[in-house]
Order: sequence, then structure tokens, then C-alpha cells
Amino acid sequence: MPACQAMETLNTTGSAPLCENEHLRRWVEKTAELTKPAAIHWVDGSQEEYDLLCAQMVASGTLIKLNQDLWPGCYYARSDADDVARVEDRTFICSLSKEEAGPTNNWENPFSMHKKLKALFSGCMRGRTLYVLPFSMGPVGSPMSQIGVQLTDSPYVVVNMRIMARIGLPVFQEIDKGEKRVVPCIHSVGRPLARGQKDVPWPCNKEKYIVHFPETREIWSYGSGYGGNALLGKKCFALRIASNIARDEGWMAEHMLIVGIENPEGEKTYVAAAFPSACGKTNFAMMIPPKGFEGWKVWTVGDDIAWIRPDQHGRLRAINPEAGFFGVAPGTSAKTNPNAMATLARNTIFTNVALTPEGGVWWEGMTDEPPAECLDWQGNRWTPEIAKQTGAKAAHPNARFTAPASQCPTIDPAWEDPDGVPISALLFGGRRAAMMPLVYEAFNWSAGVYIGATMGSEMTAAANGNVGKVRRDPMAMLPFCGYHMGNYFRHWLRMQHSLSEVPRIFHVNWFRKGDNGEFLWPGFGENMRVLKWIIDRVHGRARAKETPIGWIPQYGDMDWNCLEYPKERFDRLQAIDRTAWRAEVIGHEELLIDLHDHLPQEMIYQRELLICRL
Ligand code: OXD
Ligand code: MN
Repeated sequence: MPACQAMETLNTTGSAPLCENEHLRRWVEKTAELTKPAAIHWVDGSQEEYDLLCAQMVASGTLIKLNQDLWPGCYYARSDADDVARVEDRTFICSLSKEEAGPTNNWENPFSMHKKLKALFSGCMRGRTLYVLPFSMGPVGSPMSQIGVQLTDSPYVVVNMRIMARIGLPVFQEIDKGEKRVVPCIHSVGRPLARGQKDVPWPCNKEKYIVHFPETREIWSYGSGYGGNALLGKKCFALRIASNIARDEGWMAEHMLIVGIENPEGEKTYVAAAFPSACGKTNFAMMIPPKGFEGWKVWTVGDDIAWIRPDQHGRLRAINPEAGFFGVAPGTSAKTNPNAMATLARNTIFTNVALTPEGGVWWEGMTDEPPAECLDWQGNRWTPEIAKQTGAKAAHPNARFTAPASQCPTIDPAWEDPDGVPISALLFGGRRAAMMPLVYEAFNWSAGVYIGATMGSEMTAAANGNVGKVRRDPMAMLPFCGYHMGNYFRHWLRMQHSLSEVPRIFHVNWFRKGDNGEFLWPGFGENMRVLKWIIDRVHGRARAKETPIGWIPQYGDMDWNCLEYPKERFDRLQAIDRTAWRAEVIGHEELLIDLHDHLPQEMIYQRELLICRL
């Protein structure tokens, strides 16, 4: 049956299909038959469409248009109080075998999960519009890009995805070429509307499922409208499904920012860095070099995800598959990240920050002086006095801004290069109050893989969980690796064989504290000093001292121009306490035992070498 006829049968209205592809049209029809939307809208990705959807959401109460004199093109949303972060305990990798998903992922049999999802999705879009949202992760047409189509009943998702990915007509045209496999993504907030029933501002469902089927490359998401649960191009596709594609095709899908560092002589060096969620990746990606580094520039390519692939010369090249930043707002300020503040000053969607009486936004840490009064992320009156008495936060700790990457003042001229940028170093880092030095360099690729595999970090508010507790987060991919973590390490180790130039691997920690709980390192722009040492190591220009864990800079190896940082403090910052390190290595066991049946021998070997050196 022709597609349009089928839609009449369904008694749905909406826009005409914008794609010739029969598979896609049939899939849309089948999904509509299952979910029973009131209308189908094929997303063209235009500004007019975006403006219209935003206006509709303002009318329905989902969005508030901010004061356009202060925040041009900006909108504000408050989520349901139960839908504020990624839900890792409701996230599933439904590979054919449980073993393939590994112990770090939730797994359910794909057949029973499909059955469960079909039941949940049955009629779940009643009273809503089904949006057919095509998106490209990476520049449209780049050999490194991948395509998906998200069927969603959330206009909030559509407008956020327009910022976070390349969407609309150009992607439909790519699909019509038929050259690339399309990843099907189905999403519903799980809140059907009965005839005449009034909608809530943030529809969602208490029951949530974020499900990935790696073999068929499918994504199904139910019950949440928030961030990584709902913007399916991001964590679900660009990391969990892409990590599977990457393993099969010999490349890497990583939870990494990408920056280019240009020295005053014009030499540019790109590095990619993996830090767990909410550990300052956005700040690092938009760093402003400190005093004493005049003439240096840090260029932003990406702040969250890197797709990295060896080119024909055996050199790693990376693209940022995203087109926007979904950044954590609290703590972001003109002092901590002026580039982020400039990026989010217009055309941005804010979620779960506070609303000021002037129609602006505010969050903890944005200014030294809080507003005298505002509405908090749940719409309740908030004053500094109330905060003092009750501890109430004006913004949710995981409040976010969705802002176009193109607006970033430091966006790299090559950020959309279809062939990516060359990567010279990989960094791992976590949030560690004790024991972990500011920076050290792995002895070689395998030792670096061991460092990344065993990295740990104190938990933050980016995911529901126990804030403050150290958890092992291999390569910052614990919630994002779409297959067995042991096989993921094996893939990393194997990657070395396709490289003629092997990037050096480093570990950094900006968060080490002294005896009185004070941070030993100033962080932010001063991290440039660490980057400079790293880059000089890459180019064979910097010295380092051998230690049991790797190569470290000594005081004299760092550039201290315009910073008074005492040697004694640096020595404390870089101290390697062998007893604490032995305990740390024992701490690695928990993860390694979990993964033992798929752990590459090389990992055990690296661990034994480390123990011997300690
Ligand atoms: C993110 C995360 O939103 O890692 O980037 O949670
Ligand atoms: Mn992230």
C-alpha cells in the first residue's frame, strides 16, 4: 500500500513524507500503527519549523521564551522532578547473548525485551504527534559520519536535536542515496493523551527503558524526555551503538573531548581526552590559556564524544559527531568558562536552571551574587535566604544548556572537516581527591590502555547514583560501552596494530586535595601548563622522570611563567605514595575480576608489571 494511503487508514494527519526510501516509509507506518499518534510530522530541520515548534511548546507550557533582549533566541524548560538525569539502572544492552553485553551492562533477552517494548509502545503516542527526525552524527556526507532516524513524540527532543546534530532535509537526501545504513531509533515519553485531555508541561512516565539492540543496531527509549535518555543521537547512538560499529569496523567511539592547541609559532596539536560525566570536559574543551601563555590558542572541536579512526597513513583522525553542547550549567560562569557563556548567550535551550524575574536564567556559580529572588528549577520561589535555611538549590545540579557548537568563540576552523583532525595524544582523567598525581605519561600504548581501563572517579550528579563515591569508570565509558568491557579493552589493544604513529597516553587529575581538604591545583586555564608539557612530550621536547606508574614532569619541566606555584606544593601534587598506590592496584581487582573471562592477557601482564614496579 502506498505510504500516504496507509496514513489515511491510520487517520493521522501531518506533513507529507520527505523521503523516498521505502524501508523508512514502511517503518514509519508500522511504528504509527503500533503507537497510534494523532499526526505524523516529517522534520525538515528548517528555522521556520524550529520556531513553530518552540511557539507551540510556549503555548502548551513546555517552554518559556526568555527575555529576548537579554537572551536572544533562548528558551527555558523545567522537567518533571523524576526526569532529571540519565537512568543507568534502566539502560539495557540487549545483545543476543548476555555474555556479549558483559557484566557492566544491564541485559535482557532481546526477544522478551522486544515483546515488552511493543507492549509499552502500543498506543503510547495517542493524542501526540510522531516526528520523523532524520539526523547525521558528524558532518552530512563525511565518510566518518553515521545516520539515524529518531521517531519521537517529543517536540522538545526535536528542537534539542536540531542543536545537537545535523537534522532534516539534507539527511533525508543522504538516506535516499541508499549508501549508508540507517540506525532506527524509537522514542516516546510514554504519556498518551486521551481525547480532550490536557497535557502536562513535561510529559514522561515513571517507568523508563533505554534499550539498545547491538546486532540490529536499534534503539528504543521509553518514559523519559531528558538529555541522554531522549536525545538518542548522543549517548545511545554515538557511544553505545557506535562502539559496536566501531569495534566491527576497526575504529573507536569514545567519550572524549577534542581540542587543538596552537602555539605562538602556529604549530597545532590535537588531543582527545576522556573524563567521566560532569568532570569538566566542557571547561577543558574551551580553555582560555592563562597569563604567561600569550600567543597560545586552544581550539574546540568537541566537548563530549569523539569518533576516532586510523587514516590511510596509519594516523588517528577524529571527528566530533555532535553539532552542539549539552553542557552542565551549574558552575559555568564568565570566570570558569567564558567561552561557554558566550556560546550559550543566544539560541540556547536551558533545562532545569532557575528563572529570574527579568526573564533571564541563573544557576549556582553563574555569578558571585545570587539574584535577590528567582523561581527555582521546579518553579518554586527561591531566595538566598531560603537556600540558607533549607539548602534548596535554584538550579538542579544536572541542569543543562543545549547550545550550538558553531557559536563557540574558540570553535576550531577544522571542526567540521569531513576527514577529522589528527590526534597526537590521548588523555584520561577522573575526579580523585587523593593519591592520583596531576599528570603522568604511560610507558607505552598497552600501559596506557591499562591506565584508561582502571581509571576511577568520584561520582557526580550527571547520573542517578551515589554522589562522591569512587567508581571505576574505564575510559569514562562505563555507562556507554555497548558490549563486553573486556572485549572493549581488547579492541583498544588491537587498535595499536593499525597505527603507524601511536599517540602517547597520559593521565590527569585536577582534583587532588591537600590535608585540609583544599584543592592543590588551581585548575581551569592553568591546566594549559599541563597541556603544554603533554604537547612538548609528544613533540619530543620535554623531559620527564621515570616513576613506578609512568613518566612525570618535575617542577623544572613545567612552564611556570606568571604563576607563583611553590615547588613544595607541586611535589605534594605529584607525590606517588607507594602504599596508597598498592591499595589502588588492589582496588582495580574488583573490576578485573568482574571482567576476567574476557580480559585480554595483556591487561594482567600490565597489572603485574605495575605491581612489580611498586
Ligand atoms: C553527558 C554525560 O551528558 O556524560 O555528557 O552524562
Ligand atoms: Mn558525557
